[in-house]
Amino acid sequence: MTEERNIKSEINKDLKGWGSGLIILGIIHFAVIFQPIEVLARAPMRFNYVGVEMCKLCHKGKELGNQCDVWTNTPHSKAFYTLGTPEAKEVSLTADIKYPQQSNKCLRCHSTAYAFTEEKVAEDLQVEDGVQCESCHGPGEEYMYVEVMENKEDAKAMGLVIPTEETCRKCHNPECPTWDPERDPTPEGKRVGFYFPLRWKMIENHKQ
Ligand code: HEC
Ligand code: HEC
Ligand code: HEC
Ligand code: HEC
Repeated sequence: MTEERNIKSEINKDLKGWGSGLIILGIIHFAVIFQPIEVLARAPMRFNYVGVEMCKLCHKGKELGNQCDVWTNTPHSKAFYTLGTPEAKEVSLTADIKYPQQSNKCLRCHSTAYAFTEEKVAEDLQVEDGVQCESCHGPGEEYMYVEVMENKEDAKAMGLVIPTEETCRKCHNPECPTWDPERDPTPEGKRVGFYFPLRWKMIENHKQ
């Protein structure tokens, strides 16, 4: 913002020299030139997805906790194949979807490649790899370097997400056709569709 203000005052100085006719031109210029700068300043930074094979370079093996092998054994890694089951075909019929594994309506939550959208936005990712690390931890293009990863604050500035319940609820919500509002028991004896402490426990052994 300060940079923008400086540029504006520079131009204002110039304008004073050029006379009032030019001021009007200058104002028009402001509208054209400065609008994109303001839009850029407000837009969140965007990073690209790199895929679980990249995370494997460091997070496979005991040293950092082997999160990759642990993930391979959770349903998230198989979320694409679940779309090929008879159950998936059945729940798709009402939505007029014949092939759930090819439908963006399903892939937006069942694969990181679609990244919560109805388009395959992560070009290099395979839909077969299902819900990968970056669906929860954010796109890794800029944080996946040791120098960055070692400092949590740096990594967060470069897009690393430390997931919370809210992250899970981007997918675990009633928009899923198999959503069961009474799926999980709570300690109070109620039933809810997604009880975070229970679910997180199910995948909490995130490292070995
Ligand atoms: C070049 C090696 C390397 C790659 C590639 C890499 N990481 Fe890391 N990661 C590290 C190191 C080193 C740490 C820090 C470990 C520590 O401090 O205990 C770390 C820490 C983390 C943390 C914990 C952050 C915290 O402080 O709580 C997360 C989450 C993480 N990595 C996710 C990923 C994901 C997802 C990918 C793939 C997109 C990835 N990493 C790729 C090396 C790597
Ligand atoms: C990108 C979407 C997405 C996000 C984000 C997500 N999940 Fe999931 N999750 C799924 C899908 C899809 C399945 C079903 C996988 C299958 O069975 O093929 C699933 C399945 C699960 C299961 C297995 C349930 C069972 O009955 O076996 C658990 C546990 C789970 N998720 C926990 C979590 C937690 C905890 C978080 C947040 C930290 C989370 N999920 C974030 C999409 C997501
Ligand atoms: C809003 C995100 C979202 C969308 C969209 C979505 N799913 Fe899911 N799906 C999930 C989650 C999350 C789970 C895991 C359910 C759980 O553990 O509570 C899941 C689980 C499933 C399961 C396994 C049964 C079960 O409930 O565990 C099937 C089958 C399935 N989805 C089919 C589909 C089909 C077919 C489509 C497209 C028509 C689709 N899903 C669209 C998020 C979604
Ligand atoms: C379903 C969501 C989800 C997926 C998928 C996922 N993580 Fe995590 N991860 C979490 C959560 C939640 C935490 C705990 C955050 C906290 O500290 O509060 C975590 C913590 C971590 C940590 C910190 C140390 C630890 O193990 O607790 C690392 C490193 C990490 N994840 C790497 C990965 C890698 C690599 C992958 C892919 C192979 C991956 N994660 C996939 C949700 C996920």
